[in-house]
Amino acid sequence: MTGLFDPFALKNLHLKNRIVMAPMTRSGSPGGIPGKSVAQYYRRRAEGDVGLIITEGVGIRRPGSLNDAGSPVLYDNAVEHWARVVEEVHDGGAPITAQLWHVGARPREGFGTLPLGEPDSPSGFAWPGMAVGKPMTEAAIADTIAAYAEAARNAVDAGFDAIEIHGAHGYLIDQFFWKATNLRTDRWGGVTLADRAEFAVAVIRAVRDAIGTDMALLLRVSQDKSPDGSIRLANSPQEMESWLAPLVEAGIDMLHCSGMRNWRTEFDGSDLNFAGWAKKLTGLPTVSVGSVGLRNPGFEGFIPPASIEDVLRRLDRGDYDLIALGRALIVDPAWPRKIREGRLGELRPFSAEALATLE
Ligand SMILES: Cc1cc2nc3c(=O)[nH]c(=O)nc-3n(C[C@H](O)[C@H](O)[C@H](O)COP(=O)(O)O)c2cc1C
Repeated sequence: MTGLFDPFALKNLHLKNRIVMAPMTRSGSPGGIPGKSVAQYYRRRAEGDVGLIITEGVGIRRPGSLNDAGSPVLYDNAVEHWARVVEEVHDGGAPITAQLWHVGARPREGFGTLPLGEPDSPSGFAWPGMAVGKPMTEAAIADTIAAYAEAARNAVDAGFDAIEIHGAHGYLIDQFFWKATNLRTDRWGGVTLADRAEFAVAVIRAVRDAIGTDMALLLRVSQDKSPDGSIRLANSPQEMESWLAPLVEAGIDMLHCSGMRNWRTEFDGSDLNFAGWAKKLTGLPTVSVGSVGLRNPGFEGFIPPASIEDVLRRLDRGDYDLIALGRALIVDPAWPRKIREGRLGELRPFSAEALATLE
């Protein structure tokens, strides 16, 4: 297990090991303000030896950027509260990245009518056939790009060590990527995935300008458009390269390749997973994720937990550089320390009840 506990550095970001806390919405920030309980929650994971913490999605300054009244924002007086969260996490021994989020037109599962304000989306669709609001105007697009840059600048002021842009999971940036939700014929749309990456490129450029060259900038992307993975954004290595290359060119330092199954091979003829292909095609370091460290998935019971041997084999082979854990770190803040010390019998199994509290 040596590779898992090797240090890692990227620009000004220094990790003591390869374990990342995946971004997870926890709805514990009423009024958009992350309070003491949020700071303590993240600090406990830092003290448990997580190498890098990525915050839950944090809303940018747009009326419809969030679909959950308990999600935090990254503007106005929330910034000073984030500064306290950052301080606690640093005291706990880990760097922390803010995940910048705009949900687009997507309603929150089970909650019907949200986003909280006027929805932003490329073509007025949250999902094929699900009309929500109007296509964004040029002015709305410009304002949204500026809001990403403002949030990034605020993250720098709050002391964050890096920024992650959420470009995955069917939210705003991903709605631009997907042909079924981006029907635009102007410069923000187009026939190819590379054409539809133009909005993400503009966001990345604006964020990069706001944070300068020394701060690490991550982009989270996902491939799946259906639960079984049969509909994906990029359907060949060539298409994936044409999608990711302009994003890297615009200023990304590391790609966070999201999917529920870490072990899934992305294309025929190779056992590389999504993070493996993204690294091979772009040359950038990558983060992998998906059902790692779970003894009892619970949340999505049909997905078996990833084999830790397979995760480490891929890491040691250099397929990806970091491995993110979500649910395992919700139930067990000390997961990395227990693994390092060989206390496997003490790992806590996942239970869905853990999602209800900020322990
Ligand atoms: C409660 C919960 C909230 C989540 N919220 C976010 C989020 O805000 N941003 C994001 O990019 N992914 C989010 N995810 C996805 C996780 O980051 C992660 O990719 C997913 O849980 C798979 O990792 P795991 O199998 O280790 O849990 C969330 C997952 C869970 C369980």
